Amino acid sequence: MTADVDELVPYGGVRADAAWADEVRRLAADRDAVLLAHNYQLPEIQEVADHTGDSLALSRIAAASDASTIVFCGVHFMAETAKILAPEKTVLIPDARAGCSLADSITAEQLRGWKAQHPGAVVVSYVNTTAEVKAETDICCTSSNAVDVVASVPADREVLFCPDQFLGAHVKRETGRENLHIWAGECHVHAGINGPELAERAAADPDADLFIHPECGCATSALYLAGEGAVPEDKVKILSTGDMLTAARDTRAESVLVATEVGMLHQLRKAAPEIDFRAVNDRASCRYMKMITPAALLRSLTDGVDEVDVDPDTAARARDSVRRMVEIGNPGGGE
Ligand code: 13P
Ligand code: SF4
Repeated sequence: MTADVDELVPYGGVRADAAWADEVRRLAADRDAVLLAHNYQLPEIQEVADHTGDSLALSRIAAASDASTIVFCGVHFMAETAKILAPEKTVLIPDARAGCSLADSITAEQLRGWKAQHPGAVVVSYVNTTAEVKAETDICCTSSNAVDVVASVPADREVLFCPDQFLGAHVKRETGRENLHIWAGECHVHAGINGPELAERAAADPDADLFIHPECGCATSALYLAGEGAVPEDKVKILSTGDMLTAARDTRAESVLVATEVGMLHQLRKAAPEIDFRAVNDRASCRYMKMITPAALLRSLTDGVDEVDVDPDTAARARDSVRRMVEIGNPGGGE
């Protein structure tokens, strides 16, 4: 269960200077460790990592890596997913209290109850779920391949999609599927990026592209605005964090409004320095992601903590659904 962040003091007090980066790299080499960082991590953590990317790209890298240790700078379900895919490796997360409000929005018991109401339905779960929920799942997906995953299910089979309601609505729209049932979960960070805020920002900057993560509460509003002609349809792009980087390299826009966690701005500005990237909501910061501080990473590499373990039976039941996720859809998303 995710910690109550208000009660937590992340490890602090270490300056992320060149000496820190050298020490991190030396300790990682000594442990035969690969450092993975999600796109929402602090810029200094992204810079010191071997690979940055979205959750799908990082899962793929974790599964393919030769390193004996994976240090996952992200949140707990991401490190658990790496452990499910690579059970023989040591998986460390610099602060095991870094949870996810979205992953907490459905339990395995709730999912079993939902399945009992829809016998024969195919369960598609977003990767932002616990290992126990994945063990009850037929196919996992991430934001970059959710549409492809649902499209891979035969049209006559009912689909239970959990836990994110906004991503679910996006998938339903894209696939046109009526037999898709959606769990009413949400991420507190993305749900807080709302439609009126987006409409106001888009009106103030009519030439800007809109890059919108499908977990956002404003994704529906963006499509509505496009439908109403308030924003040209080709300016609204619903994208995973990895796909935002590809779109940044491809767009001709001079400015882009970004609706996702603010850590994303770092990679976007690196990918296309000539573009003015602005957050739709600059308070959209995930406090769990930001618990992976420079000091926490140093502690992790020095002491070999916090080790992430998944019960072997649960991991075995979850593995097929996670492998299907890694196999389906877009191979992009990370560096
Ligand atoms: P991505 O799959 O786009 O990396 O998003 C993961 C996440 O946690 C969103 O908040
Ligand atoms: Fe979870 Fe939301 Fe944080 Fe992503 S941004 S890790 S979905 S709480």
